[in-house]
Amino acid sequence: MSKLQPIRGTKDILPDEYRIFETIVRVAKQTAALYGFTPTNTPILESIDVFKRTLGESSDIVGKEMYVFEDRGGDFVALRPEFTAGMVRSFISNGLHHSLPLKLFSYGPVFRRERPQKGRQRQFHQVNFECFGLSDPKIDVELLAMAWHIAEGLGLKDKLTLEINSLGDQESRQKYRDALVEYFGKYQQDLSEDSQRRLTSNPMRILDSKDEGDKKIVADAPAIKAHYTKAAATYFNHVIQGLEQLNLPYTINETLVRGLDYYCHTAFELTTDQLGAQNAVFAGGRYDGLVKQMGGPATPAIGFAGGIERMMALFEQEIQAKAPVVIMPIGEQAEHEALNWAQRLRMEGIYSEILYRGNLGKRMRKAGDMKAQFVLIFGEEELAEDRINVKDFIAGSEEPLPHHKVVSWLKEKIA
Ligand code: HAM
Repeated sequence: MSKLQPIRGTKDILPDEYRIFETIVRVAKQTAALYGFTPTNTPILESIDVFKRTLGESSDIVGKEMYVFEDRGGDFVALRPEFTAGMVRSFISNGLHHSLPLKLFSYGPVFRRERPQKGRQRQFHQVNFECFGLSDPKIDVELLAMAWHIAEGLGLKDKLTLEINSLGDQESRQKYRDALVEYFGKYQQDLSEDSQRRLTSNPMRILDSKDEGDKKIVADAPAIKAHYTKAAATYFNHVIQGLEQLNLPYTINETLVRGLDYYCHTAFELTTDQLGAQNAVFAGGRYDGLVKQMGGPATPAIGFAGGIERMMALFEQEIQAKAPVVIMPIGEQAEHEALNWAQRLRMEGIYSEILYRGNLGKRMRKAGDMKAQFVLIFGEEELAEDRINVKDFIAGSEEPLPHHKVVSWLKEKIA
């Protein structure tokens, strides 16, 4: 039998990588807390209805990528392909409109049955941020500042570009949609199969096409900005002015439309040129109509998500494993006592490991491999004389300490 492997498009996150994963989550959570975000969580499994209409029946995610199955009770459920729709479901289920504004941070696995390639998996992880109840363009700016702040905290800022666009309000989008249908209608035969389908379902998505033939046609397509209502144009201007005010670098990308249907006004991505075709690391935008569309009270909202695996691929710092205090007993009585010492240290919050037996030189080398900073060495004699030899691996020094001083001495040194 061949060796068991993870399912295509899924990956094990091994300890060295997981330290980076955790660092990303911690930096994202701590930075978001500075902007008022509170951690929360929703189920990975949701009813298929949560995603079907909200993300758009014509979107790739709903059309071909969602993991959907009938459970043993005959209900159709989906593994969440993103957080937003589930967060809105939770907002409505729990009547959270009574406590607005609300800023929620989450992270965890999401699932899309895409073709796996560099930077693209079928199970991946997002850090996700949603803000409910605030409609001012300054909020969009605050969120963009937060995305940059997280990128900076992770040392990724120089690798990213903020691409921003406005999808306008509903009226702007309807006008734009009509203009696109008229324009692309002239080239219908030349468009890719996917784009021909989108011509009726969601013509704006044609702008996003990766097909080379489509790209040539898209180059001369009408621009959205010519179709903004006055209110939509003013809104976008305010967002841009806010970015200028905070000196946040940006590029306006008029073809950025996003792959999900719920967006309006501000849409953005922080992209990189280091991950091939999968260039978006953070992405999101405003979705003022979604809460109402899902049956809740009309509530403005904006959010974004970051792909943790994509951040991991760009991350360059080394995150060391925690260094233990290593206990090396010599002789049977000391081995017995070692267990007490390890427990005492652990209860005091000090990570410790016991290297029970073997040649002392070998044990020292092993402690070096474990990156131990301190080693406690004792045998019968030391126990009888109330001392323990504490070796500082980094300083290269060794000193005998009376038993009652060991914990406080280590705590001071480790702090
Ligand atoms: P999204 O653009 O579909 O947006 O995904 C957000 C991020 O997840 C992407 O920028 C990328 O870093 C990562 N990502 C997406 N697909 C994959 C994949 N197959 N493999 C690895 N990473 C991937 C959303 O999910 C929206 N819910 C964001 C949002 C929140 N909008 C408003 N609030």
